[in-house]
Amino acid sequence: MQSKNLYQVYNQSCIEGMREHVADNSIDLIFTDPPYGIKGDELDVHYHRDESKVVPGYVDVPLNEYAKFSLDWIRECERVLRPGGSMYIVSGYTNLHHILNALHATGLEEINHIIAKYSFGVSTKNKFVSSHYHVLFWSKPDRGSKKRTFNSNYKYTDQKDSYHDRLSVQDMPRDYKPGQVKNKNQLSEDFIEKFVMYSSNRGDTVLDCFGGGLTTGRTALRWGRKFVGFELNTHAYDAFVPTLAEVEELPDPVPSTPDAVELAKRQKLRDGWKRDRLLKKANKSTTQPAVDQIQ
Ligand SMILES: C[S@@+](CC[C@H](N)C(=O)[O-])C[C@H]1O[C@@H](n2cnc3c(N)ncnc32)[C@H](O)[C@@H]1O
Repeated sequence: MQSKNLYQVYNQSCIEGMREHVADNSIDLIFTDPPYGIKGDELDVHYHRDESKVVPGYVDVPLNEYAKFSLDWIRECERVLRPGGSMYIVSGYTNLHHILNALHATGLEEINHIIAKYSFGVSTKNKFVSSHYHVLFWSKPDRGSKKRTFNSNYKYTDQKDSYHDRLSVQDMPRDYKPGQVKNKNQLSEDFIEKFVMYSSNRGDTVLDCFGGGLTTGRTALRWGRKFVGFELNTHAYDAFVPTLAEVEELPDPVPSTPDAVELAKRQKLRDGWKRDRLLKKANKSTTQPAVDQIQ
């Protein structure tokens, strides 16, 4: 059971809410998934799924307000992030440009542009089926000893072994939980966990401006972080805030070494790269075919 002073969620717009409740430079990590400005409140028409377990009242933002809306909440995020603090924003492709424009208007810096690939998509007839999200990883520049956290070793003892885990194309697991009440567009906690673990430490404070089903909150608390969240939809707020109290905190995972099969796969890749490098080098230094030299 979680102690109530480890988390705080506000049933209000995050823009006013952050101004009211969140101090400058006080947040270590933001993981958030804003409404996409694509009439998300009407999306069930496209998804053809059983909506009876989906909490009503999802709030989207009209397209003609989306640019200003993005700038307003992202500027607040810039203010509340500590120097060296990290921010991940999940976005679809339709209004991605507004979010990127807003980010570029701040003093935040880009770290990675991640593609989250899922194994299904909304069915379309005369074009490719869209099956990815963008995850924008930005950070407030370091100041003095306030450095950006990136725990490359949280999973594997040798940092090199986390190479595949840190590729900028990530699988988006599907959180198929039949019968459970959920938010529209609810993300998988397994997916969020990775970003929480790489970019924050136990005891840090994690913020989600657009809480929805409070998946970020549960993930943060499970791994010993504090949580601050906002959700404008009262139905979602009422349905999901009680789930935070049920979260069982877990001890840090013990970094491991990949199993023998995985290690052999990686060694094969490394050998291949080494061979390519040698070939390139040999090609530069002689006119003789490089393959002959190496074989
Ligand atoms: C894409 S969903 C977030 C889903 C969430 N990541 C999850 O896993 O459940 C966006 C959420 O933002 C909420 N929202 C929209 N405008 C808001 C605002 N100004 N402040 C706070 N929440 C807002 C919506 O009601 C919706 O629940």
